[in-house]
This record gives sequence, C-alpha cells and structure tokens, in this order.
Amino acid sequence: MVSASSEQQPYGDAFRYFPFYHVYQQPSKTSWTKIVIMLQILNTLERFHYKKLRYSPIYAALSKVLDLPPENLIKSISAVPVSKKRHVADFQLSIASVTEDSSSDCLAQDLNLQAQKLAERLKCDAVVSEISAGPGTVNFTIHRELLAKIVLQQVLKDGSEYGVKSELFSTVPRQKAVIEFSSPNIAKKFHIGHLRSTIVGNFIANLKVALGHEVIRINYLGDWGMQFGLLGVGFQRFGNKDKLKSSPLQHLFEVYVQINKAAEDENTKKLAKDFFRKLEEHDEQTLSLWKQFRDFTIEEYIRIYKRLGVHFDEYSGESFYQEKSQEVLKMLEDKGLLQKTITGTGIVDLSEKKDLSSFSTVMRSDGTSLYITRDLAAAIDRMNKHSWDTMIYVTDKSQSNHFQHLFQILKLMGYDWAERCQHVSFGLVQGMKTRRGEVIFLEDVLNEVRSRMLQNMASAKTTKETEDPMETAEKVGLAALIIQDFRGLLSSDYQFSWDRALQSRGDTGVFLQYTHARLHSLERMHGNEHLTDVNVACLQEPDAISVLQHLLRYDEVLYRSSQDLQPKHIVSYLLTLSHLAAVAHKTLPVKGSAPELAQARLCLFQAARSVLANGMKLLGITPVTQM
Ligand code: ARG
Repeated sequence: MVSASSEQQPYGDAFRYFPFYHVYQQPSKTSWTKIVIMLQILNTLERFHYKKLRYSPIYAALSKVLDLPPENLIKSISAVPVSKKRHVADFQLSIASVTEDSSSDCLAQDLNLQAQKLAERLKCDAVVSEISAGPGTVNFTIHRELLAKIVLQQVLKDGSEYGVKSELFSTVPRQKAVIEFSSPNIAKKFHIGHLRSTIVGNFIANLKVALGHEVIRINYLGDWGMQFGLLGVGFQRFGNKDKLKSSPLQHLFEVYVQINKAAEDENTKKLAKDFFRKLEEHDEQTLSLWKQFRDFTIEEYIRIYKRLGVHFDEYSGESFYQEKSQEVLKMLEDKGLLQKTITGTGIVDLSEKKDLSSFSTVMRSDGTSLYITRDLAAAIDRMNKHSWDTMIYVTDKSQSNHFQHLFQILKLMGYDWAERCQHVSFGLVQGMKTRRGEVIFLEDVLNEVRSRMLQNMASAKTTKETEDPMETAEKVGLAALIIQDFRGLLSSDYQFSWDRALQSRGDTGVFLQYTHARLHSLERMHGNEHLTDVNVACLQEPDAISVLQHLLRYDEVLYRSSQDLQPKHIVSYLLTLSHLAAVAHKTLPVKGSAPELAQARLCLFQAARSVLANGMKLLGITPVTQM
C-alpha cells in the first residue's frame, strides 16, 4: 500500500541501501567515483522528491564531494522514451555528459565501453532492479512496484503542477516576460498569419505562466497609418454608425474595400491625405471617429478571442507611438545615427564597415515615422513601463528582417536589453479556405471549424449525447486546428487541410479530446480513487508500465519546449500518451476486474488524464469531458 505519509517519509531512507553509500564519505576523486555518486542521486530521490532533497543533508554532502552543481547531475539523467519494443529501462545516464574526457573526439566506441564498464561495477539495490549498458548510456530499471507508487503519487499530488515543479526548472530564474502576439490591423483582413500568431503567442504565454514567470500579453494593433485617411473618407461616404456598432470588423472592412476602389481618383486621394493630416494634428472630430473605429474593433475582438480562450493584458497599437517616434528620431539624430539621403528620407546604417551595405529607413522625407520607428518607440516604452527581462514578438517569418533591424538599431542606441528581445517566427500556411471562400475574419474560421466538427460528430457512431453540442464541437474543432498547426516546427510552412485536421483517428486534436473524454467518463462511472487506499503494486502489465514510464518523462518535454519555444515536443508527447492510454484502456479493463485491480487501474487512468489535460491546456486547448 502506498502510505499517505510522503511528507515525512519520501522513500526518504531508500538511499541507505545503495551499493555505493559509503563513497561520499571518503572523497577519493576518480571520475568513476563521481559517476557512481551521481547514480546514487539517480537511485534515490532526485527525480521524484526534488524539493525535499534540497534540504536533505545527503544532498549537500553529495554535491560537495562531487564538486559539481546539482543541476549538472539532473540533466545527465533522463527518462527513457517508451518504444514499441517493450521492456525498456526507465532511466538512462548519458556517459558523454558526465565523463571528464568527453571531448568531441571521444569515440562512440569509447563511450560504449565506458558505459559497459560502469554498468558492470554497479549493483542493483532496493530501488534499482536492473542495470545494463546501452550505446553510450547506462540504463536503469526501477523496481516495478516502486515505479508505480512514485509516479502515481507525484502526478496525483502535484495535479496541475506536475512536471513544472521538477528539479529541471529549479535553476531557471523566474522572469518577467512581455509577449506580443496576434496584432491584427484595423479594417484589414485577419489572415491565417494572425491566427497562427494568436495561438503560438498564447501557448508561449501559458507555458511561461505555468513555469512561474510573470507574463504581460500585449496585442499591438495596426491602428495607424495612411490607410486611416482612406478609411475615414470611406466612412464619410459609405459608412453607417449602426453597422459600425453591431459588426465593426465586417463593416470597416467593407468600407475599406469600397473606398480602395475609388482611390484612383485624385480627389479621393487628396481627401484621404487631408483626413490623415487632421488625425495627426489631433483634430478632435477626426480623432473621435478614429477612436470609434478602434474601440468597437477591440470590443468585438475581445469577444472572439474569448471563444479561443485568449486574453490580453494590454491593447496597444501603432497609434500610441506617433509622438514617441518623433522623440526616437531626435535621439537617433543626437547619437549621430540618423543619416539623410538625397531625397530626404532618414536612414540608420546597420553595416559593420559603415558603408551602408545594410541600412534601415526610419523616417519619410516629410519627417513622419514608419512602422519600424513606431516599433522602436514601443520597445523603449515597454522597457520603461514594465522593466521586463525578456520580450517576445510572434509574427510570421516574412517580418524576420524587420525585427533583426529593430534589435540592431536598439543595440546601436545603447540599449543592451536589445539582446533580450526575441522574434519567434513561423512559416506560412497555404490553402485555408472556408465554405464562404477566402478567410477574412477570425470568426469565419471559428464558425467553420465548429460547423464541420458538429457535422462529423452527428455522423459518428461513437458520439454521446452532450449537453451543449455546439460548445463541444467548438472546443474539439479548436483542438484540431491547434494540433495541426503545432505538430511540426513552427518555422515550416504547411498545407492546410480541414479533413486532415478533423480526422478522429490518427495524430489529431480530435483524438486527444476523444481520449480525454473517454478517460474522464471512466472516472465518472467508477469514481475517483485516493491513492492512499490503493495497491498500485498490482500494475505490472506491460501496457501499464508503458504509461507510467511515459508519465515520468513529462518534465523533460516541458523543459525542451521551454528552451526552444516549440510546441511540437508537447504535442508529440500528448499524442503518444493518448495512444498508450487508449491501448491500456482496451487491455486493462476496470469494469469486471477484482476490486483491488480495478482501483489501481483507475488510478493509472486518472493520472494519465490529469497529465493529458495539463498538457492540452498549455497548448491552448480546453479538454472536453464528453463528446
Ligand atoms: N500588425 C502587423 C501585421 O499585421 C503585425 C505587428 C507585429 N508586431 C510589431 N511589433 N511590429 O503585419
């Protein structure tokens, strides 16, 4: 039985049984000794009892003898990925990462040999039941009963914090991050790039928050520029205040399309210029109309983002930085960075040799600012306002040059924090069309995915009666969109396909949702189990072990995604988890099994569902409980 006393006794004295318990008492320092001591860390509590371990005297002693910071040990030992070939070990120690002579010319053969030698010198103990050498690794199998106890206890105890509390993150400093994403343009199309920015930015923000960072989510609207001159004139000609209030996105877009057709005519051009000039001069009436465009647009966006489960702390925009970009130009001039071309435009030389082989235009010949000037002002303003540690911009890769230039100019201006700015870019998506045709509004995509999903659900035999089919369809459909988008590297382009995204089998968001709903209904039927009353030692079948081993790896996957900000690690982890859980669900029935076995299995499924739900939420998916 698993005792409820993990607080007082976290397998706390398991270390006493280790074969090399004596080693840290006599600091003889061969590199083998180091490795051997590291193994004790592995064998003991390190992977599981991260927090407590920090205060344990053994921990301090080990770290001292090793003369190594504990973080180094933690990353050398990882959970073995579950493979189709069964009976793999649970953990592996990578020899390359711990030997002192692990230079690049250290041959693979040597590493294998070292692994073998080390494995031979080690003995099993109360925790480790099997030790073997693999290619460059020493592999460890934990006693099955212990594996089940430790994993399930940790998962069920930590709940939504499972994985994020891992020692892997203990050395990562908590930071304040500004994340700017979505950032559509008023009166223009909300294209698939904006959708990608929205879900990617939301994922990054969720992950950072889960890992304990402070996050500020900013939506930087395209709410300024010459197009507002045209839009203003268009509105005076074709606009309708009621329509502006009731459906601002659609109405403004229509007005903009209409006036664009007329814009060839010189008179319209002149009127548009006048309108924009008045806007820049802050003419009250002009400004008030513009403000209505902006306010109504934001109001509608907030409503639509809500369907996506996305929110922002700030609705900023280019308009905020009209005046401040004049200050930036002044600063550039004072620092001797602003050069004028013969035509009078202002540029900043970005080349190393100062030969203008690379430059950025920051001012029009009439002295007005450009997109990049406003971005300079915005970055400086955000630093003043939030003193962030890192700032992330999420847009498609066509803007990579823009952001490289932005960061370079900030650096030239003497802002060292420019190095802490990051552009997270993503590839292009081809072929996203709705039944109405080309995608113009975010809402079109949401409605389309919902109605397609609703149809699929209606025709599927497995569909259950749900309380709110529309809402279920929306959540499942969104999961499908997100998983299709997050499966590959963000930088790769892909061909969009509704059918592929919405398949119920295979590696889709629908499959994740379906697995979650099934596991949830198990709990609904049989009730939740409290680990304290359950004998998890009876979870010995290979299908159960595979699930446990996979659960063991969650923290490493989170760690990877937190390092490169790629959601694909989490996606493939969750897909594998769902496959393993689906197999286990088939081969390890709860219903009809002896009570002890049924309870233990329920615990296993409960743990799998908990981690599945945690991971889905990070990706921006709301797990459904019925479908
Ligand atoms: N509104 C821009 C667009 O639609 C994206 C803004 C990106 N962010 C920035 N700080 N420049 O292309």
